[in-house]
Amino acid sequence: MKIVTIIGARPQIIKAAALSRAIKEQFADRIQEVIVHTGQHYDDNMSQVFFNELGIPHPDYNLHVGSASHGVQTARMMEGIEKILLEEKPDCIVLYGDTNSTLAGAVAASKIHVPIVHIEAGLRSFNKNMPEEINRIVCDHCSTLLFTPTQAGYDNLAKEGFKMDNDGPYHIDNPKVFHCGDIMYDNSLHFSAIADQKVTLLKHLNLEGKPYVLATLHRDSNTDNPDRLNAILEAFTELSKEITIVLPMHPRTRKKAADFHSENVVIIEPVSFLEMIQLEKHANLVITDSGGVQKESYFFKKPCVIMRPETEWIEIVKTGAASLADADSKTILETSRHYLQHPPVHFPDIFGDGHAAAFMLEQILNSL
Ligand code: UD1
Ligand code: UDP
Repeated sequence: MKIVTIIGARPQIIKAAALSRAIKEQFADRIQEVIVHTGQHYDDNMSQVFFNELGIPHPDYNLHVGSASHGVQTARMMEGIEKILLEEKPDCIVLYGDTNSTLAGAVAASKIHVPIVHIEAGLRSFNKNMPEEINRIVCDHCSTLLFTPTQAGYDNLAKEGFKMDNDGPYHIDNPKVFHCGDIMYDNSLHFSAIADQKVTLLKHLNLEGKPYVLATLHRDSNTDNPDRLNAILEAFTELSKEITIVLPMHPRTRKKAADFHSENVVIIEPVSFLEMIQLEKHANLVITDSGGVQKESYFFKKPCVIMRPETEWIEIVKTGAASLADADSKTILETSRHYLQHPPVHFPDIFGDGHAAAFMLEQILNSL
């Protein structure tokens, strides 16, 4: 079987590591993977670093689309992906998550009848002002095989009219949905011990054995709205009077907050995945608007303040281990203080058993 995998943004490159690893270890005799990098992310520390560190095969194609408006970026990707699909004639295309690279793959493939496998299907924020919400909905409804990482994702698809019995021949009008756990959990388990052995970032930051908060910030609704951005940075400044904040800064945020300085907020370049795991494992608290970082804080049993009005990872909020603070300074500050004083202890298994990738590959082989 030949699959074409589309990656483009940082979290997709990281997720692809788990699938490529499982192919190499368990399915090399049955599955050939062709990797297409759209070039949505292109700085070394947003892309190449993950290939080197996580052992992801070099992409067979790079479309080098770079940054542009949603329409221009997505259209450039669609043009390139369609051409590759027509040449490669794969049995299916694998799409991750909810970025513009996902959307481009979904539209290009479905129009020329290449079956779509959507990994991280069914998630909904119920906020269509998020570009990601549009991308997810379109991709899910063009897919033939959908893998949901959480029960909420599975339930959302049932509510949207997906038939959940998986009977009959499957095609775009009779898709199959499987609840299989989170592929990012596979990675966090796999790379956790390796991070312990290899990474020296905390030492380098002079934070070994010291308390600190890990923060990330990149959601366009936060970075591109000056009121929200200022409120968040104000909260960071206040909280950093009580505890050091480490902030690996996304390039989008760097462009909007170039002048921001605060004595105890340690702003660093985006870090590698192994470095990020080290930061997450040793932090006292995580504050983020990232989907992936929300989950990883849960994997490593850390409390998380979510700087969004809602989240598609609703289960982690329901357990009490994470809390929605939106971009409200006071709420970010108060929730952070609460978690620092009363760290949650209850982290029930929500994200599967760490073998989601192998399960998906088995289903892809059986179904397509
Ligand atoms: C994208 C995804 C978002 C995901 C995030 C992960 C969409 C609509 N958004 O958001 O869902 O959470 O990736 O990080 O697909 N830039 C650089 N260097 C790079 C990449 C980006 O400088 O290597 C800067 C550019 O100024 C660019 C901006 O970041 O305009 C935004 O990049 P883009 O890929 O459009 O969106 P993200 O905010 O990264
Ligand atoms: N990440 C990383 N280095 C960083 C910030 C994040 O390796 O400096 C990883 C993080 O551990 C997670 C993924 O990137 O696996 C999350 O990506 P991001 O926050 O960019 O996007 P989202 O998950 O919100 O789509």
